Amino acid sequence: MSEGLFISLEGIDGSGKTTLIQYLQDKLATYPLLRIREPGGTAISEKIRELLLNIDNYLITARTEAILYAAARSQVVEQLIKPALDEGKLVLADRYVDSTMAYQGYGRGLDLQFLFTLNQLCTSGLLPDATILLDITPQVGEKRRKHEEADRLEQEGREFQARVREGYLQLALKEPKRFYVVNANREFRHVAEDAWGQIMSLLIKRGWLPGEN
Ligand code: TYD
Repeated sequence: MSEGLFISLEGIDGSGKTTLIQYLQDKLATYPLLRIREPGGTAISEKIRELLLNIDNYLITARTEAILYAAARSQVVEQLIKPALDEGKLVLADRYVDSTMAYQGYGRGLDLQFLFTLNQLCTSGLLPDATILLDITPQVGEKRRKHEEADRLEQEGREFQARVREGYLQLALKEPKRFYVVNANREFRHVAEDAWGQIMSLLIKRGWLPGEN
């Protein structure tokens, strides 16, 4: 059992994860913290990210896509996450294994057992202590993203995002102890308050009292 605390943030495209993670990082400034984003985080994983998100790579099959996400994750787990947890750090991950289950499993229709086993192997079974799911409707997500250029996954459209969202909710139902679902259709300050409250209670349970680090 590691000494650190591993928290992942999940949600469909446009759910506001990145804004939230920045907010949380600022609030947690006094804690020893590692922030990572997936796919990415290490030089090798960033190269895999470029392969995955480049719109020119439309020939990538669903299975190849899943394996590449798992490869990027495997690298980040060994190179960054495990050492950080062993040092007792708080790890905040912008996406992790649940993204693969939701996007490649529920979104693309790949076999969930295959994805689960693949990820077990690639992460040595490391799961977050807690996962915050920002739940929004695909319509709201689309509106929030409208000013950015869409990457390969974001180009999939509303029906795909709807399947991914449904997948996330199923995952949360299967593991209610690990997941905390936040209604992210609301104004950011409400979403942030809600997520912060949850993180505070996790920190307090660990005996990591705010302001004491
Ligand atoms: P990114 O620009 O980081 O999106 P976001 O800010 O919404 O996290 O791109 C990551 C994309 O990759 C996003 O569309 C979700 C997708 N993805 C998967 O399909 N499977 C995965 O395992 C991961 C980690 C991400």
